[in-house]
Amino acid sequence: MSYEIATIPGDGIGPEVVDATLPLFERVADSHGIDVEFTRYGWGSERYLEEGAMMPDDGLDRIEDSDAILLGAVGHPDVPDHVTLHGLLLPIRKRFNQQVCKRPSILFEGVESPLRGYEGGDVEFVVYRENTEGEYADVGGREHVGFDHEVAVQSAVFTRQGTEAILRAAFEAAQEREGHLTSITKSNAQAYSMVFWDDVVEEMHQDYPDVEVESLLVDAASMDFIRRPEEFDVVVASNLFGDILTDIGAIVTGSMGLAPSGNVNRSGEYPSMFEPVHGSAPDIAGQGVANPTATVLSGAMLFEEIGEDGASETLWNAVRDVLADESAPTPPDLGGSASTDEMIEALGERV
Ligand code: NAI
Ligand code: MG
Repeated sequence: MSYEIATIPGDGIGPEVVDATLPLFERVADSHGIDVEFTRYGWGSERYLEEGAMMPDDGLDRIEDSDAILLGAVGHPDVPDHVTLHGLLLPIRKRFNQQVCKRPSILFEGVESPLRGYEGGDVEFVVYRENTEGEYADVGGREHVGFDHEVAVQSAVFTRQGTEAILRAAFEAAQEREGHLTSITKSNAQAYSMVFWDDVVEEMHQDYPDVEVESLLVDAASMDFIRRPEEFDVVVASNLFGDILTDIGAIVTGSMGLAPSGNVNRSGEYPSMFEPVHGSAPDIAGQGVANPTATVLSGAMLFEEIGEDGASETLWNAVRDVLADESAPTPPDLGGSASTDEMIEALGERV
């Protein structure tokens, strides 16, 4: 089979981890008899600073026919974050109807959790985050700017279709995994959107009677992600809550440098996008020390999504092997001193 992957390295450590990782993906593809072409798009904050836009006007049209999208990270100290987000990342998620964001949190063998008493294998859950609406809907405005009576309104939008799409994906995942689903809301304070969400959970549960459903408020869930992360299997949450909780999930399982994510278009009508959970990390950009593992695992999720399970497995196994091997290089975020390239080399030896 042959595939075209639209590749947007982006900003900061984005290009560092993507450039290092592509040859590994090509090698894995080759060894599985898959023909993949990674088409690079130099979109991001540098382009914004030079030309006033993160991507060209017809940017989305250009990548629409690709089989999937690989993204590094966006975010630049000289460009406001809402500009970078609304200029590139959110339009891709929305225009390609990537309603489901899937983020696994796995404590790998050989990785130390900042939590006391946890070892590799103890934590393994996946968060299904609603990805195109909710609190990140582009609905609102500011009026009377600069006056005492200045007002800002930011509305959250929960549609039945969008809520059902994320919940169905999560119920299906729970059915395939350990049969346990945790739904996260804030229904005590947000009595419209979140109570609606709870209602849809209850309705949909009837289609998946074998799945055990637990409901948590987001504040309690934040505590439980730290107090009892081993008890989660599939977690489903709105856009904002899923965003926050997956950073907690990433750090209790070792590092931001290990956490992958997929923005999935369920219908297959548009490409899905895969990217590390982390951002552009300006504090370490340019030093060649970013951990490329999150990008490697995002690639593993990408291969699975396009139906190349063998290539996906190879990448997951290489990561597990390197992390578990005490003599293998360890990057700074996991307490070692290995560079991005040394990590890729070690992974390359295992594919
Ligand atoms: P960040 O995820 O970039 O960094 C948080 C911390 O984790 C930093 O200390 C960083 O050094 C570390 N870190 C992140 N990735 C790492 C890796 N691969 N290896 C080793 N250490 C790693 O989040 P931050 O600092 O809040 O945001 C920086 C910029 O990234 C901002 O402009 C923000 O808007 C943007 N951002 C973009 C995202 C995206 O493109 N999807 C997601 C999150 C933030
Ligand atoms: Mg985030």
